[in-house]
Amino acid sequence: MDLEFTEEQLMIKQAARDFAITECLPGVIERDEQQRFPKEQIKKLAELGFMGMMVSPEYGGSGMDTVSYVLAMEEISKIDASVSVCMSVNNSLVCWGIEAYGTEEQKQKYLTPLAQGIKDGELYIGAFLLSEPEAGSDATSQHTIAEDMGDHYLLNGTKNWITNGSTASVYLVMAQTHPGEKHRGINTLIVEKNWPGVTVGNKENKLGIRGSDTTSIMFTDVKVPKENRVGEDGFGFKFAMKTLAGGRIGIASQALGIASGAYEMAVEYAKQRKAFGKEIMHHQAIQFKLADMATKIEAARLLCLKAAWEKDQKKDYTISSSMAKVFSSETAMWSAIEAVQIHGGYGFVKEYHVERLMRDAKITQIYEGTSEVQRIVISRALLQ
Ligand code: CAA
Repeated sequence: MDLEFTEEQLMIKQAARDFAITECLPGVIERDEQQRFPKEQIKKLAELGFMGMMVSPEYGGSGMDTVSYVLAMEEISKIDASVSVCMSVNNSLVCWGIEAYGTEEQKQKYLTPLAQGIKDGELYIGAFLLSEPEAGSDATSQHTIAEDMGDHYLLNGTKNWITNGSTASVYLVMAQTHPGEKHRGINTLIVEKNWPGVTVGNKENKLGIRGSDTTSIMFTDVKVPKENRVGEDGFGFKFAMKTLAGGRIGIASQALGIASGAYEMAVEYAKQRKAFGKEIMHHQAIQFKLADMATKIEAARLLCLKAAWEKDQKKDYTISSSMAKVFSSETAMWSAIEAVQIHGGYGFVKEYHVERLMRDAKITQIYEGTSEVQRIVISRALLQ
């Protein structure tokens, strides 16, 4: 693994940093308070080619590597994790899944506009519908039914905690077709939001990533053409697991960005704030906190880059993506709490951003597989 970035990777990192500072920073506190989806920011991200970063140019993507994706995700997440989760889901879960396993027709019809993030001048993004009210970590227990009706499936059920739930135009839905066969009976279907029988639930009122759009989605007798099934009959659960392995690199990089954003703010604050006659950066209590934060963040970054490199090299990245996710998300939570502590009372008020990073960090330990699920994946692979 080469630890030297290419010129192109560094350009992408810089472009993401510039975008985050000029487009995401203004209004980030208000969007968080009002739970306002960052629509304009996502549109501009699409114009930059960041909504389908790793998709081949043949299908409207930017053809970049996963290392570049990690660099971009980190920079954007330092400023606004509500923007970066939308970017991550569209890139890693939706576009990647269709490009890896979809038919040529599905790629032309759905992947191309999803990778561009825009269709007919309007935002065009996707969502990944695996979780249900009673199937979160236990993802094989799908209650949503896709009944085989010959030329189509009849879809019924409810999905929960769906990122981009009301803003997405296209859903990748995991549903059970052969209940007796448990996970081997699950299929993944491409469903359009405006089809009859699709209902979007209310937006969740969340602790963090409040700008992002999280809803439930209900399906009542939705007719899904057979040609919208992704992969062979019964491939849906493996599709979800393989797609999530890449998704976890995205969320690990988001967590890395939250951690490094908190660290950068803590350093700036420590250089300016005076206590006991000198800037607090001269106190060892603060220096040791910053040293520990920097060390853990660097370790998280290396894990994210290793997982990305393995994916780019077409190696198996299941373990490395879970390791990156569990370590980065725990580093994000811990670093954000330390950043609040360094800020003292100011860390507890909204103007200083670190309290938002602390709230945003928590979800990275939960979605796309909790820390406990990542430990299951890692330990099973190690002990096999
Ligand atoms: N690649 C391919 N196949 C895999 C796989 C992988 N990485 N992991 C498991 N499988 C296969 C297994 O081989 C097995 O198939 P066979 O029986 O045919 O061999 C099948 O999947 C079932 O695997 P397990 O027996 O290991 O299943 P399990 O019930 O013990 O659970 C689990 C495994 C790892 C806990 C899994 O259920 C899991 O990852 N749960 C978490 C789900 C998750 O991440 N949800 C996030 C929702 S999406 C989200 O958050 C998006 C968003 O909007 C931000």
